[in-house]
Amino acid sequence: MVMHLFRFFRRSRVQNVPTHWEPGPLPLTSVKGGRRWREDIPYALPKDLQEKDRLHYQHYVFKTLLGGNYHAPLERVGDMLDVGCGPGYWMLEMARQFPQARICGLDTEFALPHGPVASNCRFVQGNILHGLPFAEESFDYTHQRLLVAALPAQAWPWEIKELLRVTRSGGWVELVEAGDGFSNPGPQTERFLGWVREALRARGIDPSAIAQIGRWLEEAGAHQVFFRTIPCPLGSWAGHEGELWGKDVFAGFHAVKGLVSAQLGIPLQEIELALAKVPQEWAKYHTSNNIYVAYGKK
Ligand SMILES: C[S@@+](CC[C@H](N)C(=O)[O-])C[C@H]1O[C@@H](n2cnc3c(N)ncnc32)[C@H](O)[C@@H]1O
Repeated sequence: MVMHLFRFFRRSRVQNVPTHWEPGPLPLTSVKGGRRWREDIPYALPKDLQEKDRLHYQHYVFKTLLGGNYHAPLERVGDMLDVGCGPGYWMLEMARQFPQARICGLDTEFALPHGPVASNCRFVQGNILHGLPFAEESFDYTHQRLLVAALPAQAWPWEIKELLRVTRSGGWVELVEAGDGFSNPGPQTERFLGWVREALRARGIDPSAIAQIGRWLEEAGAHQVFFRTIPCPLGSWAGHEGELWGKDVFAGFHAVKGLVSAQLGIPLQEIELALAKVPQEWAKYHTSNNIYVAYGKK
């Protein structure tokens, strides 16, 4: 287990900004519950077309719940970085909002968004756990959203230092996350969350630690740190936004169920029976889950 985690942390930092993407060696993958997973990184969500569609939907849910795509007081931004950019839906919108900016997205795999890619966006393939392949002070704004299921708890403080390293003095680093900050979960939700925590622990991931992103930013040396916890109700009992968030979190539960089943040896059918009761529980107990926003200045 320790050796397994150590492999994820091996550092191979390249100091120059790559100008184009070249296919790397084929990643180590597996199929669990009919979904494709990466086995060479701790990432606990599938990497396939179905997940790409979920991330597309999720992008608009976050934009709606948070009232926009960013929170740091951005003015003129030349270079932006989006770490763990996924298919790049956030990048494409930022490219429209900041047409003069150059926007770089980093992810382990190249997954083009549906539709045209703005000319001021580029994608770089890389593994954050090996260090960011960029020189010091390369970006005015560094953004990272929803890496909770990607980074082992012990990697977070180091990884946030890495975000600050590539950000220019006076620039901003922003983190947006959601973890397992559930309030009023019902019994089946608790049961499912217990399974997820156990499956993630085997990969070194601890979603309960994510509420510390503000403190980690401060400890990494950021100034003027802003941190906010936003409790977001789950389900249509809480109106349109609740319905959007409920559907997103429920889709996230379904996305991770294959890993839970394979890792813990629980039949998929048993997990699905528990999940089927979850939306009614949220309506009955008025369940909510937190979103966390933190930003700070370098
Ligand atoms: C939940 S998705 C979030 C995507 C995007 N940030 C968003 O908010 O729509 C997490 C992304 O992190 C990427 N990721 C996971 N582990 C990574 C690693 N070690 N290095 C780089 N990217 C990683 C995944 O491939 C995936 O695209």
